[in-house]
Order: sequence, then structure tokens, then C-alpha cells
Amino acid sequence: MEQSFTYAPSLTKAERYAAFLEDYRLMISDEDDRISLLANTAAALHEAFGFFWVGFYLTADAEWLHLGPFQGPVACTRIRRGRGVCGTAWAEERTIIVPDVDRFPGHIACSSASRSEIVVPLRDRHGHIYGVLDIDSERLYAFDDDDRCGLEAVVEAMAG
Ligand code: SME
Repeated sequence: MEQSFTYAPSLTKAERYAAFLEDYRLMISDEDDRISLLANTAAALHEAFGFFWVGFYLTADAEWLHLGPFQGPVACTRIRRGRGVCGTAWAEERTIIVPDVDRFPGHIACSSASRSEIVVPLRDRHGHIYGVLDIDSERLYAFDDDDRCGLEAVVEAMAG
């Protein structure tokens, strides 16, 4: 399988997510191994959107998230439930957009270059949260409702 996730620069963000989702659904259609899916999802999102850091933290037990597949600089490996943006999105079971990480109390800075962030919970088929998708940008205010809708659709597609 060779698949490319490059799109015309002229596309709006919403159009880019729509095009991405079409290609993404094709890519994942014959794969059901969780780690393989997460690894290729991180790579595809990185290629399509050029994110500074994109990856997954997965629940290890009721208290901890552990670093999963990602693309970008080396990152923190453990995040406690309720801590940082990732642990908060997990505890509150909702997508969190942080326009300026310096204004999010308790933000965990894996890289000082990261300025804004979005975290989307991952749910299995039964609605149980098994981790989060975390994306960081070097720009302030990089994420908006187009990202929320697009990325929630991506993780929903992954759940099957
Ligand atoms: N900033 C995150 C930690 C993970 S890194 O961004 C990759 C947080 O506050 O949970």
C-alpha cells in the first residue's frame, strides 16, 4: 500500500479535513490492530497538516496515561489523570482546545516550542475512553472548531 496525504495548499482547513477523511477511511479499512492504526494515524495527520507534534497517550490503568505512537520531538512518557491538557481531557471526557498553553493552568510542557494545543479523547466502540489524541502547534491560536470537528471525525472513524 502506498498512500499519500498531501493536499493542495489552496484548500481551506475544512476542505483539507474532508479530503483527509476520505483518504484516511481507505487507509484504515483493512487494519484492526490498535497500535498499527494509531501509528499510521499520527503519520498521516503529520503529513497532511504539518503539525509540530501529533500523537497519542493511552490509558495504562485508572490513573495514568502512557505515551503511544507519535510524530515529532521526544515527549513526556507519563501523564496523570486530571493533569495537563491530556489528563484533563481524559478526566472531563471532552475535547479541549488551548489557544495559548501559557494560560492553561497545569499545562505540561514537553517542548518549550509548543504554543497551542488540542486534545481529543479516544473512545472504543462501547464509548469507553482508552486514550487521547494530542496535537501541538508552534503557533498561538492554531486550533479552532474546524480542527475539533475534523479530529473528532478522525478518532470516530478509527473506532470503527
Ligand atoms: N502538553 C500536554 C503534554 C503532552 S505534550 O504536549 C506532547 C499536556 O499538558 O497534557
